[in-house]
Amino acid sequence: MVDLSVTLAPGLRLKNPIMTASGTFGYGREYQPYLQLDNLGAMITKGLSLRPKAGNDCPRIVETPCGMLNAIGLENIGADAFLRDELPTLRAARATVVVNIFGETRDDYLRLATMLNREEGIAALEINISCPNVKAGGIQFGTDSRMAAELVGAIREATSLPLITKLSPNVTDIVAIAREVAAAGSDCISLINTITGMAVDLKTKKPSLANVTGGLSGPAIKPVALRMVYQVAKEVEIPVIGIGGIATANDALEFLLVGASAIQVGTYNFINPGIATEIVAGLEAYLTAHGVASISDFIGSLEVPE
Ligand SMILES: Cc1cc2nc3c(=O)[nH]c(=O)nc-3n(C[C@H](O)[C@H](O)[C@H](O)COP(=O)(O)O)c2cc1C
Repeated sequence: MVDLSVTLAPGLRLKNPIMTASGTFGYGREYQPYLQLDNLGAMITKGLSLRPKAGNDCPRIVETPCGMLNAIGLENIGADAFLRDELPTLRAARATVVVNIFGETRDDYLRLATMLNREEGIAALEINISCPNVKAGGIQFGTDSRMAAELVGAIREATSLPLITKLSPNVTDIVAIAREVAAAGSDCISLINTITGMAVDLKTKKPSLANVTGGLSGPAIKPVALRMVYQVAKEVEIPVIGIGGIATANDALEFLLVGASAIQVGTYNFINPGIATEIVAGLEAYLTAHGVASISDFIGSLEVPE
């Protein structure tokens, strides 16, 4: 038997390194016919704010040749409804739940983190400082390394839950931001969120998205994500979680090879809702076939010529 378990922080040990990415897996309900939530390393919930949020106007999703653009604008049910209607079901399904959080202000993030700290059945928080599709919150914290560090440091004081900080690729120097949030007390870093993009309609001569721009995800962004994960994993001491265009076990293995300690599957869940557990099986098969006893022996084993 191959040991697929990974430890991402004190108190955050996953049975395998495969998670589902925020915003592409809802609260797991729609996926229950296709996979068992407790077979996942963890599932990340749709981004949660203190109060419910309506999101952006439609149209807010457009397909592109090898991915999609979305400008959902962080629509969500808010913290009270999440705790009342969703968390109990996830607890019953024995899912390892990571709650993805965001706020419009620093105080919003802190109040939410404090509130979730008291709840049973939450394994960790993923702090979204990287959503490109909202005017307030998200990206404004994620593109300024000092603001990002100050926010993460304050959340660190507000909760004892393990913290994963999710970074934006829409920056000049992702390594600098990664270093700052690591120093501020984040237990892990996840990357990447979507890459800002645009689509236009030649018939109407209008932007395809009501928001004009959106976030690109899916296979198109994998090489960018892989490069950023490689660069960040080399430079920080804390575990890195790779995200971006992962659709197969081989994609997941590539991220682990360049230094990710775990990965998240996003857009591909929409194409094959059972993909995350298929990737777990594929990972196990690969490691068995290559005589690797433990996933930790494989993580970061990329050989880069001098
Ligand atoms: C429809 C949609 C909604 C998303 N919502 C969130 C969100 O609420 N919070 C967040 O941190 N990331 C969100 N993301 C970003 C994904 O979690 C992920 O970082 C990104 O899609 C890249 O991975 P992928 O190429 O595998 O999809 C969303 C992505 C999509 C496609």
